[in-house]
Amino acid sequence: MDFQLSEEQLMVRQTAREFAEKEIKPQAAEFDATGEFPVEIIKKLASLNFLGITIPEEYEGGGLDTISYAMVIEEISRACASTGVVLSVNNSLVCEPILTYGTDFQKKKYLSDLASGKKLGCFALTEPEAGSDASNLKTTAVLKGDHYVLNGNKLFITNGRVAEVALVFAMTDKSLGYKGISIFVIERGFPGYSVGKVQQKLGINASGQCELYFEDCLVPKENLLGEEGGGFKIALATLDGGRIGIAAQAVGIAQACLDECLKYSKERVQFGQPIAKFQAIQWMLADMSTEIEAARLLTYRAAFLKDKGERYSAQASMAKLFASETAMKATTKGIQIHGGYGYMKEYPMERFFRDAKVTEIYEGTNEIQRIVIASSILK
Ligand code: CAA
Repeated sequence: MDFQLSEEQLMVRQTAREFAEKEIKPQAAEFDATGEFPVEIIKKLASLNFLGITIPEEYEGGGLDTISYAMVIEEISRACASTGVVLSVNNSLVCEPILTYGTDFQKKKYLSDLASGKKLGCFALTEPEAGSDASNLKTTAVLKGDHYVLNGNKLFITNGRVAEVALVFAMTDKSLGYKGISIFVIERGFPGYSVGKVQQKLGINASGQCELYFEDCLVPKENLLGEEGGGFKIALATLDGGRIGIAAQAVGIAQACLDECLKYSKERVQFGQPIAKFQAIQWMLADMSTEIEAARLLTYRAAFLKDKGERYSAQASMAKLFASETAMKATTKGIQIHGGYGYMKEYPMERFFRDAKVTEIYEGTNEIQRIVIASSILK
């Protein structure tokens, strides 16, 4: 077993860290306060090849491995969790399935633009009645001549406000249950596609999350991704990869919290000494540090298995489960260490706390992750 990162991986991490520290961190509080989508930052991240990190160079991606991907998402999320999830969705939930299941036509037409960041993508699975029960879709797609006609609506769609390409899940045959779900690559300009309202939320305010509507939306037949009826399995396999991204995002948020706590506890003097001298604080810092390291290793392990081409569903779920709970624990302790200041908007603790919560919810709640893990160990 080798815990040593390669030269290339170290270089990628360093690039991501320096960029995040210099370009993203100073703007993160403002993105959170205004909900402004980080358009300019995304353009710069595209020039670093971070929009399609694992996509081969022939499709204008970074050609890197999944551990590098996890490190980039961690470093970007350490500065701004909203930017982290924007990247994660484009990489894992949009570029990867087009690479894996797309036709040559779809790869040529969409993948290079998405991996190079010329266009941004979104993953439109969730509906009002299909959250954890993801196959309970009401959106329908009916083949009429050379086009499918889509009707329905999606919600909580990260990147939806700005995405120019959407992977949309719809029922092509309701009588078949999950075996009747298909995926379509849909351009923002297709007739009948519209972007709904941006939803106000607790955290990750700049992730461009919104509703999408399809009203007799005309989609050319050649934009079916994979086989008709094969969409649900593609969704679950794709989410395995996505969960590595969310685990990395949670590690980034937790690490940002620890960074601030270490600084603050050495500076803040109470009872005549820096609070870092008190064992009560030291123990909280030690627990945070240990759990973050464990979460990071679980994330790397899932990434490693993915790169080896092995099944890694349970490992990705374990990483996301543990990392998201670590982020919640760390940010709760982080506010406690900062006392009253931690509760105030002028310190980043309350933002970390709000941003951390969603990592326990999206790309499968932690209850769903436990179902995936239990089904793998009870086989
Ligand atoms: N890869 C490939 N196939 C898989 C799979 C995987 N990881 N997991 C299961 N399958 C297969 C099964 O083998 C089964 O196929 P067969 O019938 O041929 O054996 C089929 O898929 C259906 O599996 P299940 O019966 O287990 O499906 P289920 O309906 O019980 O659901 C679930 C399973 C785990 C609960 C799933 O619905 C789920 O993950 N729900 C959570 C949804 C989710 O994560 N949504 C995220 C939205 S996107 C998002 O959040 C993005 C963002 O904004 C950041």
